[in-house]
This record gives sequence, structure tokens and C-alpha cells, in this order.
Amino acid sequence: MSVTVRLLDQAGLAAALPELSKLLIACVEAGASIGFMAVLSPARADAFWTDIAGQVERGDRLIWSARDTDTGALLGSVQLITGLPDNQPHRGDVAKLMVSPEARRRGIADLLMAALEAKARDTGLRTLVLDTVTGSPAEALYRKRGWVEVGPVPDYALFPDGSACSTTFFYKSLA
Ligand SMILES: CC(C)(COP(=O)(O)OP(=O)(O)OC[C@H]1O[C@@H](n2cnc3c(N)ncnc32)[C@H](O)[C@@H]1OP(=O)(O)O)[C@@H](O)C(=O)NCCC(=O)NCCS
Repeated sequence: MSVTVRLLDQAGLAAALPELSKLLIACVEAGASIGFMAVLSPARADAFWTDIAGQVERGDRLIWSARDTDTGALLGSVQLITGLPDNQPHRGDVAKLMVSPEARRRGIADLLMAALEAKARDTGLRTLVLDTVTGSPAEALYRKRGWVEVGPVPDYALFPDGSACSTTFFYKSLA
């Protein structure tokens, strides 16, 4: 499968909102701890993406899509938060990396992270930070891409089913 990764402008994001909501719901249903509890309703997912669209419009966030080049189907997404306090103009937070459960282990997350890191470097960011579920598949991805583990925080968040999960923080220096 050929995959196209694109940084979305406002129009592209507006057009993709329904698909992004479906992707978010599918990932939460599959058990991902990415900020939401089960069952995530379409209305709640739509409200989340509408808020994100506002942040993109204000220049506080960037969002990438990964699509099947042939069919155009949305396969994944990732975000870079740049709207941070005044004393952190050189930093970015990575958020909501997600790949459709049917499209995993085909290198799509790797492509999304490569695009995000390249853009962050190009725009002069020096330090990227993220957190993820301790022991999750995502940890292996970040380590493989050269992210440095800071450490786990026990009982940091919940899985969609309400059970507790530890979260591990990572950073990557781009300088
Ligand atoms: C984590 C996630 C984004 C990975 O997406 P993906 O497209 O399947 O990942 P890739 O195919 O690009 O994998 C790249 C590398 O990550 C690691 N990896 C990814 N999934 C893995 C898994 N299930 N088990 C072990 N390692 C895994 C491997 O090192 C892999 O390289 P390899 O396939 O050559 O061994 C996806 O599983 C997902 O959306 N999970 C739910 C949401 C989530 O937890 N996001 C992270 C938020 S911080």
C-alpha cells in the first residue's frame, strides 16, 4: 500500500473532520488511552476536532494526515502543539498519534512521525516532548526513532475501560 502524508491546512482539516472523528472513535474502541473514555460518542469526537481546528487556525497546532494514496482513505494522524508558554518558543509537544486499527504495522506511524520531526526541525524547534502508555507499542516506535525515555509516572491516566495506566514521558532533541 502506498501512503501519502500531508500537513493539513485549514480547508484540508475542515474537510477531514468527519474521518478524523471516525479514526479517533476506532482507536478508543480498540483500547487506546488517548484522552477519552469508552464509549466515545460521535458528538464528543466531533467537538474535540472542532476545538482542534480552532487551535490550528490560531497557529497553536499542526496536524498531519496519512492517506491511502490510491483510495484516499484516512489511515492515521498526528499533531504538533506549538502554542506553548512564552518561555518555550523552541519546544513542541507531540499529541494524538493514531493509526487505524486495520492499518497498523505498515510503517504509517513512522511516516507521520518522520514528517512531524522534519517540520519541527525546519521551523527551528529544538526540543520535542511526548508521553505514552507505559509498555505500549508506541514506546517501541519512539525508541526506534531515537526518542529518549525520561521515565514513567504510575497511575497517570485511565484506559477507555476505566482501568489505570502508567504513562512514560519521552523527549527528542533536534538541535
Ligand atoms: C502506536 C501506533 C500509532 C503505531 O502505529 P503503526 O502505524 O502500527 O506503527 P508502525 O507500523 O509505523 O511501526 C513502527 C515501529 O513501531 C514499533 N511498533 C509498532 N507497533 C508495534 C506493536 N504492536 N508491537 C511492537 N512494536 C510495535 C515497531 O518497532 C515498528 O517497527 P517494525 O514494524 O519495523 O518492527 C498504533 O498502534 C496506534 O494508533 N495505537 C493506538 C493509539 C496510540 O496508542 N497512540 C500513541 C499515542 S502516544
